[in-house]
Amino acid sequence: MLSVEDNTLIGQVGPGSPMGELIRRFWVPFIEAARVERLASDPVEVELLGERLIAYRDGAGRYALAENACPHRGAPLYYGRNEGDGLRCIYHGWKFAADGRCIEMPSEPANSAFKDKVRVRSYEVREMAGILWAYMGPPESAPALPHIEWANIPASQRNVVSYNQECNWVQAMEGDIDSSHVGFLHRGALARESAASRQDNEMLLHDTSPRWVVETTDYGMMLAAQRSTKDPAQDYWRVNQWLMPYVTMIPTDLQLRRAHGHVWTPLNDRQTRVWCVIWSPTEDLPQAERDNVLHGPMPHIATLDDSTGRLRATKENHFLQDRYRQRNTDLLSGIVGVREQDTAIVEGMGALADRTREHLGTSDIPIITMRRRLLRDAKALQLGVEPVAASGGEHFGVRSWSALLDSGTPFRENPRARELMAAMA
Ligand code: FES
Ligand SMILES: [Fe+2]
Repeated sequence: MLSVEDNTLIGQVGPGSPMGELIRRFWVPFIEAARVERLASDPVEVELLGERLIAYRDGAGRYALAENACPHRGAPLYYGRNEGDGLRCIYHGWKFAADGRCIEMPSEPANSAFKDKVRVRSYEVREMAGILWAYMGPPESAPALPHIEWANIPASQRNVVSYNQECNWVQAMEGDIDSSHVGFLHRGALARESAASRQDNEMLLHDTSPRWVVETTDYGMMLAAQRSTKDPAQDYWRVNQWLMPYVTMIPTDLQLRRAHGHVWTPLNDRQTRVWCVIWSPTEDLPQAERDNVLHGPMPHIATLDDSTGRLRATKENHFLQDRYRQRNTDLLSGIVGVREQDTAIVEGMGALADRTREHLGTSDIPIITMRRRLLRDAKALQLGVEPVAASGGEHFGVRSWSALLDSGTPFRENPRARELMAAMA
């Protein structure tokens, strides 16, 4: 449960808000690089952290992300003409370079120096893993790009799908930090995704109230969920991470062959762009596995509409819930698609979840820890303390795992756990 003040603070991402300022200390992914791939591309509209922006690529291949408002009189720069060396506002012809400098001001006398005093607000952009990432904080605080595993392997080993979700980023993300929902909300769905997840699913159903080991780390938080199995000598452990402020890892299957995670990009206080990534640390992903993400009898994302970038299953159509399947099969949710199941829940909480009315139990310890960290770091930044997680990119190079571990040894002393922990760091 949060106070009214903290519940407001945790969700707000606009400029000047404490959480918005914290997020602006990190690189934030915003669109697929392919959307502005062409040199001197047309601008595309982007909403990010509550700011209305445009993204484009100039003639030299530089990516630009600028306020969608000309500093002259506020005309939308979206309509501007990309002339290679800059974008020309169509209202009075002012022209801006990718770094925001005004390089032509044809409506002023030729000898005027006024243009040297004017800039359009613009942000640094880098391409990583086929995605454009922006840094929207003070230039002197810009951190290294986060060294996330899936962003640093060949494209052939990863599959990225993104779509927009109609709710605040924190509640969207909380689903990934809450291992205890998996055996309920996703019951019947995970079992059909693959043979590996079938085995995981059986163990998730065997013990539905995991015990937690939660550790705060430089990058964010490590969370380990312990479940008993049919064999009293062995426990099933699912270990994953939350990387400040919006990257989540989902525990792998027991074979450790595939990894899965998300990034939750806050577009504004009420909309989130979800980046759903599946990757193999060691080998190319076969086409059949890529296809399974969106197609087949039990797709991970069942209703993605490419033309809108949204799910066709929505709050308005109750996420196409099938009450017959809910009653008569093991699909507890009656909703097809793991992402649709999660989205139905988090959007159904309302665009901004009311955390003042919750009743949190022991299964919610990781969520409580995550919220505390976000709130603590946001408040500390207001006092001038920079977030530790933004101090470097290397500590983000962690991977989730799962394993059957000897039940007699505490987690931290378990040799296999230590071995896996070291291998995945
Ligand atoms: S508003 Fe853009 S040049 Fe005048
Ligand atoms: Fe989920």
